Amino acid sequence: MGSEPDADLALERATQRRLDGEPLQYIVGHWPFRSLDLEVDARVLIPRPETEELVDLALEELAHSDVRTPLIVDLGCGSGAIGLALAKELGERGVLARIVAVDESEDALDVARRNARRWGLSTVSFVRSQWYDELDTSLEGRVDLIVSNPPYVSVDELAQAQVELSFEPAGALVAADRDGVAGFDDLATIIDGAPRWLRPGGSLVLEHGSEQAPAVVGRLSAVGFHDVDDRRDVAGLARLARGRWG
Ligand SMILES: C[S@@+](CC[C@H](N)C(=O)[O-])C[C@H]1O[C@@H](n2cnc3c(N)ncnc32)[C@H](O)[C@@H]1O
Repeated sequence: MGSEPDADLALERATQRRLDGEPLQYIVGHWPFRSLDLEVDARVLIPRPETEELVDLALEELAHSDVRTPLIVDLGCGSGAIGLALAKELGERGVLARIVAVDESEDALDVARRNARRWGLSTVSFVRSQWYDELDTSLEGRVDLIVSNPPYVSVDELAQAQVELSFEPAGALVAADRDGVAGFDDLATIIDGAPRWLRPGGSLVLEHGSEQAPAVVGRLSAVGFHDVDDRRDVAGLARLARGRWG
């Protein structure tokens, strides 16, 4: 059993970490995301409330296409937030989803695997990959839903951001500019690559920055997606995009 001086010291250390600007989520080591409680540490992005709304959009897309055993790819899974929430919530509705969670970071995959084990979500598999590069080619043209909250903050924006962001992995936040649009590179790569993997009628849903809305909608349409839509988040900003394929 810990003694009171130990507890006092732990509290003092935690308080100092917070005063230094470290996000509370890393200090306590876990954080709620929809109906999950996820382990989080400095190897992964802290799951955000707007990403909970992205999961709503993903669930709506699956309901729209009424698939019984959906095949889902979560690109840039981080802590596993999106893919694991989908696995759990679909499972509770009697829908057995197969989910492939992708990240380039082995550290992030380690955290995501731990979260999957913790919640007993065994239909989620994990692949280390640069976006689509290492996906099994047997998935080509078969995926019902691609969902992603990729990095979309530009280097300039990060330099001006709150100190808390500097504690999160830069690889989870920062994307290069593309076509004159700040932080658009990863979003563009994901949009351009999606048609190869989606089945006809499959959907791509993306979180993005509000300034990127015209570029995201424009690129989805230019690539050939239909029913393109960009939903406003809880703050009233268009940040949750959708396109349907084929
Ligand atoms: C904004 S975080 C999202 C994490 C999690 N999906 C969430 O919503 O909380 C982006 C994730 O994409 C991963 N990532 C960045 N570049 C990548 C790439 N080229 N290929 C695969 N994953 C990448 C990062 O490691 C990070 O985990």
